[in-house]
Amino acid sequence: MLLQVHQLNVSYGETAVLRGVDLEVPAGKLVCLMGRNGVGKTTLLKSIMGQLRPSQGTVRFNGVDLTHARPEVRARAGIGYVPQGREIFPQLTVRENLQIGLEANPRRLRVVPEIVFEYFPMLKTMLGRKGGVLSGGQQQQLAIARALVAEPKLLILDEPTEGIQPSIITQIGEVLHELKGSGNMAVLLVEQYLEFALDLADSYYVMEKGAIVLHGHSAQEDREAIKPYLSF
Ligand SMILES: Nc1ncnc2c1ncn2[C@@H]1O[C@H](COP(=O)(O)OP(=O)(O)OP(=O)(O)O)[C@@H](O)[C@H]1O
Ligand SMILES: [Mg+2]
Repeated sequence: MLLQVHQLNVSYGETAVLRGVDLEVPAGKLVCLMGRNGVGKTTLLKSIMGQLRPSQGTVRFNGVDLTHARPEVRARAGIGYVPQGREIFPQLTVRENLQIGLEANPRRLRVVPEIVFEYFPMLKTMLGRKGGVLSGGQQQQLAIARALVAEPKLLILDEPTEGIQPSIITQIGEVLHELKGSGNMAVLLVEQYLEFALDLADSYYVMEKGAIVLHGHSAQEDREAIKPYLSF
């Protein structure tokens, strides 16, 4: 198993937000995590990335216990992260944003791999522009590209379709399909847009109030069971 989250508890101060979360992502598969606003999806991803400390439980990646590892260590170990709201650097150019992704590249690549521009050709035409002038959808593509530059074994995306125009959602879906098809990258996708999620998922988890309440392998078949746990 590539990623194994076991019995994770996370609190903000006195408030317990994650309660005994178990979640697994096999190598090369796409796993979808769904659930309404505020149930703890982002909290789980931040805990996997080392931005939050669990009070209990473990995070294992590629056979190594990373529960207490610093975020940079996790990135170098091969976990790429596209945070909710994108968080690209608006004052840096597209090229500079992509170069930041190189820092986590385990092969110590010096140049952005060409495959990233095959996935997102638009970025190649905008290398000299500041990140902040890109549209929301373009920024999302940049954020995904920046994570891909590090050639992660696991790509984690937090609601990549949120507030994005439909044409770019389609493009992002195609890229995720290709990444999955390539067989050497796993994806953990947090998503509330059900059709997008169902189309891509090899397996799924649904969260409610900080706990996993549903888990299965055929999200399409389980669609009616999943729907009540989503906002829309
Ligand atoms: N820094 C923080 N300090 C205190 N409470 C927080 C903090 N961040 C999030 N929370 C609370 O923790 C709970 C889970 O938040 P989280 O952001 O993980 O939810 P989410 O499932 O990602 O929601 P969304 O779909 O809106 O992104 C919410 O009740 C939220 O208000
Ligand atoms: Mg969130």
